[in-house]
Amino acid sequence: GIKIVTIGGGSSYTPELVEGFIKRYESLPVSELWLVDIPEGEEKLNIVGGLAKRMIKEAGLPIKVHLTLNRREALKDADFVTTQFRVGLLEARAKDERIPLKYGVIGQETNGPGGLFKGLRTIPVILDIIRDMEELCPNAWLINFTNPAGMVTEAVLRYSNWRKVIGLCNVPVGMKMGIAAQLGVEPERVHIDFAGLNHMIYGLDIYLDGELYTDKYINLITSEDESSGTMQNIVDLKWEPEFIKALKAIPCPYHRYYYKTDEMFDEEMKAAETVGTRAEVVQKLEKELFELYQDESLTIKPPQLEKRGGAYYSDAACNLIDSIYNDRKDIQPVNTMNNGAIASIPNDSAVEINCVITKDGPKPIAIGDLPVATRGLVQQIKSFERVAAEAAVTGDYQTALLAMTINPLVPSDTIAKEILDEMLEAHKEHLPQF
Ligand code: NAD
Ligand code: G6P
Ligand code: MN
Ligand code: MN
Repeated sequence: GIKIVTIGGGSSYTPELVEGFIKRYESLPVSELWLVDIPEGEEKLNIVGGLAKRMIKEAGLPIKVHLTLNRREALKDADFVTTQFRVGLLEARAKDERIPLKYGVIGQETNGPGGLFKGLRTIPVILDIIRDMEELCPNAWLINFTNPAGMVTEAVLRYSNWRKVIGLCNVPVGMKMGIAAQLGVEPERVHIDFAGLNHMIYGLDIYLDGELYTDKYINLITSEDESSGTMQNIVDLKWEPEFIKALKAIPCPYHRYYYKTDEMFDEEMKAAETVGTRAEVVQKLEKELFELYQDESLTIKPPQLEKRGGAYYSDAACNLIDSIYNDRKDIQPVNTMNNGAIASIPNDSAVEINCVITKDGPKPIAIGDLPVATRGLVQQIKSFERVAAEAAVTGDYQTALLAMTINPLVPSDTIAKEILDEMLEAHKEHLPQF
């Protein structure tokens, strides 16, 4: 059987993953699922682990669930390692969201200063996990969800020798599901040519039953009462119709931070002053979820989990693992080494792009290059991710300032330095490299 290890197993998303393995058991016979956490997450791990065990028992499947705080014990001989941890917990995310706002800058967990700091906290931990994997499970695949997933994949590719790594996000599958729902068709009938970076991905073309549908879809979302949709964590501000018609591509929900920076900043301020930032909202959602999970009579994933922005992410994870295990050679959008698939991005960098998924991993489908209107922004974010990854590895102050300043959401070098200094102090407990 297959041994899966999930690091950050105490996450409220874990029941989704378990549901995904249960649904696919016939083609993907998981025999062991190890959920790993740290002492701060032990209580969550026990609650969500209890639910995982009940779900599997209810399904009548011979999957053994292990709960542990000992990562090395868990990693021994793993086949697939999935990572979904949050260094510094939601408290750190709330700081990532609130501190930039004071300086008039977007506060978001994967974009701008917040994305930089989440990367600075996460990258040392992921590189440490890889050192353990080199020793304990050298043939395993590492499937990383931990955000910022693009920057984290970049760091693994450039600062380790580990090549069996794939970064994963639910945004592309969310876009596909959203479009299918809008068109009133089954998702299998929709195909999207995806290319870009994590949380910076475009649908370059859309097909319905194999026929090009891009223009019709753009007409639909630029009509009065439709929108291109969003995730639970991003307010659904509508695109300027003439802009989308000129762009001739479908931006992802996160592009609002770049093409509607002022409006998104105002939305964030409004939220921060009323319901709280997203981390603060999620703290309440999580409390509700864990109360449900504790109920011994619950044996399925509760529908309330759909209030989280990452809803349905396990479909992406389980489909990916299934396609590697069964060498399916189907097409899935993932974060992997570019290798020339997008001409204007360095070969050794991570991109998020449609890939053929084989037993040897993802093979990116080359697109030539991105349209000129999107190319520059994508390159700038890639430069930001590269400099940020370097800062995370070296702990060099100037490199961190460089990353902060070249981020398109940060308007000045002086503001960058002010935010950097405040955030370095606020997060110092989780930044041993600085
Ligand atoms: P969470 O706050 O519930 O954290 C999950 C668990 O990680 C917690 O139980 C925590 O104790 C544990 N943890 C913290 N540091 C750890 C460490 N060093 N080693 C092992 N475990 C550790 O977070 P969440 O909301 O479930 O999200 C988890 C991660 O997944 C985040 O980084 C989030 O950004 C990311 N995420 C990504 C996607 C995607 O599309 N790629 C979707 C959803 C969530
Ligand atoms: C989306 C993104 C994830 C992100 C999540 C946040 O799904 O793809 O990368 O982690 O939203 O959701 P949350 O409920 O934590 O705000
Ligand atoms: Mn994501
Ligand atoms: Mn800038």
